[in-house]
Amino acid sequence: MINFQNLKTYESRGIIQHYTQLQQLQPAESAILSQLKDQLSTMSMLDMGVGGGRTTQHFAKLAANYRGIDYSAGMISACQKRFANSIDPDSFAVCDARDMSCFADNTFDFILFSFNGIDYIEHCDRIQVLQEIQRVGKPGSYFCFSTHNLQGMEQVFNWRSHLSYNPVNTYTELVIWALYRLFNRSYSLKQLQSSAHAMIRDEPHNFRLRTYHIRPQEQLDQLESGFKNIKVYSWQRGIEISHEDLPAILEMWLYYFCEIK
Ligand SMILES: C[S@@+](CC[C@H](N)C(=O)[O-])C[C@H]1O[C@@H](n2cnc3c(N)ncnc32)[C@H](O)[C@@H]1O
Repeated sequence: MINFQNLKTYESRGIIQHYTQLQQLQPAESAILSQLKDQLSTMSMLDMGVGGGRTTQHFAKLAANYRGIDYSAGMISACQKRFANSIDPDSFAVCDARDMSCFADNTFDFILFSFNGIDYIEHCDRIQVLQEIQRVGKPGSYFCFSTHNLQGMEQVFNWRSHLSYNPVNTYTELVIWALYRLFNRSYSLKQLQSSAHAMIRDEPHNFRLRTYHIRPQEQLDQLESGFKNIKVYSWQRGIEISHEDLPAILEMWLYYFCEIK
């Protein structure tokens, strides 16, 4: 079941312009790029949810073959324009991650779904997307993605965590807390605390997107059947986090780097 509100948001001009202006890799992406750097020249890479091409500029020149896909036609034409002088426009295609039948089985050596792109897909489709990734990736190939951390969102939902000695900060934080509660009236803090995953309307892009949030342990369980050697990275610090430390991690999203079984 496609989430049309999310697709509509990613088709809107202002949002496309926003993603076209992004340049920098996130620290976790840089850490993964340096691990793969020596191998990329022999690899076929698939950049899923490529958006405005933020990751294209860093990865495309290093990979033997590079394909970027997005379900937003506006994002794909923005990429084709942005890289008109350096990348074949056919390297970019409009394609929904839920159905990548345009690619044969065992095509790619490295698949990236960066900056939480997978989180704009509903739970039942997310499992299908993971199966599609397994199908188009070669056995032993790498898969890297980031996803929102439900433990971080629990903090946001808890008004007590927004109190501080600075009254201006407290006021601003409580306004944001109130907006979160207003836009997510169907969830109480208690419900979040007892959920493994939840679709939350969150602040980026003015609460227009419904965004999947998942507990890190649940994410590891979701990956277990199809993926191995799963490493988790702090998006902000770019360092690996041990699986034992994950229950205490409150960062808003985390990167997962693994191999297809
Ligand atoms: C948060 S943006 C990130 C864009 C880009 N990867 C970046 O890091 O700047 C998420 C992207 O995922 C794309 N996306 C979301 N759901 C998708 C789906 N089912 N199939 C393909 N792309 C999807 C959106 O259109 C959007 O471009």
